Amino acid sequence: MFYKILEAAKEHSSLSKKQIIELLLSKDQSLFETANKIREKTKGNGIHLRALIEFTNFCRCNCYYCGLRYDNHKIKRYRLTEDQILLSVDNAMKADYKTIVLQGGEDMFWSKDKFCNLIKKIKEYDVALTLSIGERPKDEYKAFKDAGADRFLLRIETTDKTLYRKLHPNMSFENRLRCLKDLKELGFETGTGCLVGLPNQTISSLADDILFFKELNADMVGIGPFIPHPNTPLSNEQKDNFDLSLRVMAITRLLLPDINIPATTAMETLRENGQIIALQSGANVIMPNFTTSEYKKEYEIYPNKKSSNNCINDISEQIKKIGRKISTSKGFRSDYT
Ligand code: 5AD
Ligand code: SF4
Repeated sequence: MFYKILEAAKEHSSLSKKQIIELLLSKDQSLFETANKIREKTKGNGIHLRALIEFTNFCRCNCYYCGLRYDNHKIKRYRLTEDQILLSVDNAMKADYKTIVLQGGEDMFWSKDKFCNLIKKIKEYDVALTLSIGERPKDEYKAFKDAGADRFLLRIETTDKTLYRKLHPNMSFENRLRCLKDLKELGFETGTGCLVGLPNQTISSLADDILFFKELNADMVGIGPFIPHPNTPLSNEQKDNFDLSLRVMAITRLLLPDINIPATTAMETLRENGQIIALQSGANVIMPNFTTSEYKKEYEIYPNKKSSNNCINDISEQIKKIGRKISTSKGFRSDYT
């Protein structure tokens, strides 16, 4: 039965919820081999590097799982200036990166106009730009697109509405969906994703998450194991969600063969070589950290966050060993490698 499901998925890039649940519950490793083969066929052997700049850890939200939540008064808040951000961009350009990812908490200091100015300055380089800055009204998203931003990351986190409401006080699932729909409509390459192993999250709801990625036709999907943070209400939820996260990621590759899938930092945090394992199970993207070292440690979404070396030569050495290479393209969804 298991192999029949994999064969069918390979052929039609589609699975029923029941089949997804079966793949999630199984311990069979051939899921990962199949996802790896599909990745090789549709995306080639190139790995896209995205330079991640965590430009602010201020956040108006209070997500139960996240160390940057508003009610965590123990972290030192920082906000990079435009000049500091542009310095990191310059470092990434000198290191030959083709994509910049600006990631931050929902920091309202960064108004529409401030963002637009920054986007235009970054886009003076020949580079793709991804924003990961949370929920905004449609007119702001449109202004960011018009200013030159190419992509946007906004994880749905979970499609279980009851769980979503519990974990996100003063936020709404409907608005999250509205944002993703707007981003797609405006022509952003749109990334989403979920957390795996949240308290009270079921296998059935993870299957729904995967089906949601397919229905949205997400261009990128980032899957991360939930890692408890001591200064959050979920500090006592100890579980190792690595294997299940890897399965969610691999099944996503079966259903969306040509999208970009990162080997997430959270995977590396839970397992030595976690990112390499992910790259051999369907992933084709890594996001090395270009935040100035002084601030890197303050962007503590979860504890002991690994920050991969951003030196292209070192990464290249590592991935050569698994028969892969660094891609020289900007790595849009339609790029083969
Ligand atoms: N463990 C793992 N991932 C987390 N995120 C937030 N908190 C945690 C945590 N404790 C993820 C969310 C968010 C992304 C920026 O970080 O999925 O979208
Ligand atoms: Fe803010 Fe994002 Fe953390 Fe939620 S997950 S508290 S929106 S940084």
